[in-house]
Amino acid sequence: ENEPSVSITVVGASGDLAKKKIFPALFALYYEDCLPKHFTIYGYARSKMTDAELRTMMFVVYLDEVPMFIHGENCDEKMEQFLKRCFYHSGQYDSEENFAELDRKLKKHEGGRVSNRLFYLSIPPNIFIDAVKCASLSASSGNGWTRVIVEKPFGRDSESSAALTKALKNYLDEDQIFRIDHYLGKELVENLSVLRFSNLIFEPLWSRQYIRNVQLIFSEDFGTEGRGGYFDNYGIIRDIMQNHLLQILALFAMETPVSLDAEDIRNEKVKVLRSMRPLQLEDMVVGQYKSHTKGGVTYPAYTDDKTVPKDSLTPTFAAAALFIDNARWDGVPFLMKAGKALHSKRAEIRVQFRHVPGNLYNRNFGTDLDRATNELVIRVQPDEAIYLKINNKIPGLGMRLDRSNLNLHYAARYSKEIPDAYERLLLDAIEGERRLFIRSDELNAAWALFTPLLKELEEKKIIPEYYPYGSRGPVGAHYLAARYKVRWGDLNVEQ
Ligand code: BG6
Repeated sequence: ENEPSVSITVVGASGDLAKKKIFPALFALYYEDCLPKHFTIYGYARSKMTDAELRTMMFVVYLDEVPMFIHGENCDEKMEQFLKRCFYHSGQYDSEENFAELDRKLKKHEGGRVSNRLFYLSIPPNIFIDAVKCASLSASSGNGWTRVIVEKPFGRDSESSAALTKALKNYLDEDQIFRIDHYLGKELVENLSVLRFSNLIFEPLWSRQYIRNVQLIFSEDFGTEGRGGYFDNYGIIRDIMQNHLLQILALFAMETPVSLDAEDIRNEKVKVLRSMRPLQLEDMVVGQYKSHTKGGVTYPAYTDDKTVPKDSLTPTFAAAALFIDNARWDGVPFLMKAGKALHSKRAEIRVQFRHVPGNLYNRNFGTDLDRATNELVIRVQPDEAIYLKINNKIPGLGMRLDRSNLNLHYAARYSKEIPDAYERLLLDAIEGERRLFIRSDELNAAWALFTPLLKELEEKKIIPEYYPYGSRGPVGAHYLAARYKVRWGDLNVEQ
């Protein structure tokens, strides 16, 4: 009975992220018996709502879309128990008084136990600081820890990000701030270090000596429908590249950390970021999707969204070549590609290895395989997989070669559902594990790489290359890759 209590307050409880990701993740954790014994969940938002209404909202989402990742038994029963631990408090985001009321309610639930408090800020950036201030002054724990999870955008360039960090630090210490990049919570991104550091066959090849280029690819087969207002102020470079793809790159390229400790890992990631060259305009291609009619259906242009200015130049697609100026990666292009309204939804890492030197087989056999090479693909989503393309003899009396996959297909190999990224990250925040959260020096280094280029794009009013909704994106991306003698791996017929 002396176990501490944990109160989790989701600030911005009626928003989409809270409804679709945060509450379902909390339920999944409860379902898996991962939440501490004494926990209470509070939704906090401006709208007037009763506890019962919040529970109904959560239940409807649960019925509609959650159990994708929960097929277990007693699910409904567990949901019922879970909802009894969920409450709602209506308040303004900038009212110390409203947060003080929350504090009184939390205290009641905590019943004199050591009180640990986690606030999840799922609110627009312009009210971040007010909410942090009020939560910290009026509702932080008196005898346990207080932690705050924040979601991007963390500013829109180096200056605004630094200002945000500075303002946060008026009320919180660095170790109380948990900056989420939900890509770090994805199973295959977490697995990246396992793959590298616990398999002898990969780590020795992990350098300019054997790797020709690395590709980080993100695509979605839908546009910004409904989010245009937010998106237009940021664009795909800030929305996906500067955070999700760059984080993957840092994990991919870092040196071996001293240990698995959060600070050791983050130290190595910062080193990679600080060794990178700031992006150059000529190494960047930007695009924006335009309307397209296919099979009698007309898909909208980005600027058809009513919340987007008609003359917006905001990129919904970008491709870039990045370089790490250190001994391991000198000269190896890291190509990034991210876009909305493309032909498929996927996120993957592709590692193209160098050609086999003096390849015996290219003299006599096959034209395709003249320049035998290998490619390692880590498919983060959908349908998680890791596969290695190898050259192989086609069985039979003759000597013909083809390219085949050594394939680790998660669905076939592991019967367990893969937890949602938010589940892992929330659990880590509750447990104080900081490995998958972004430290402020990491964030600064990430902005330093992108800020000059973002400014240049905006000042020079660079016109994006228009690509049809549902296509493979602007051809400029191919020219960019070709400049570095690279072919995008996702264009091959056999994926
Ligand atoms: C978010 C971006 O960070 O990630 C969205 O703001 C994007 O624009 C989303 O759609 C993609 O996340 P996931 O997990 O669905 O790949």
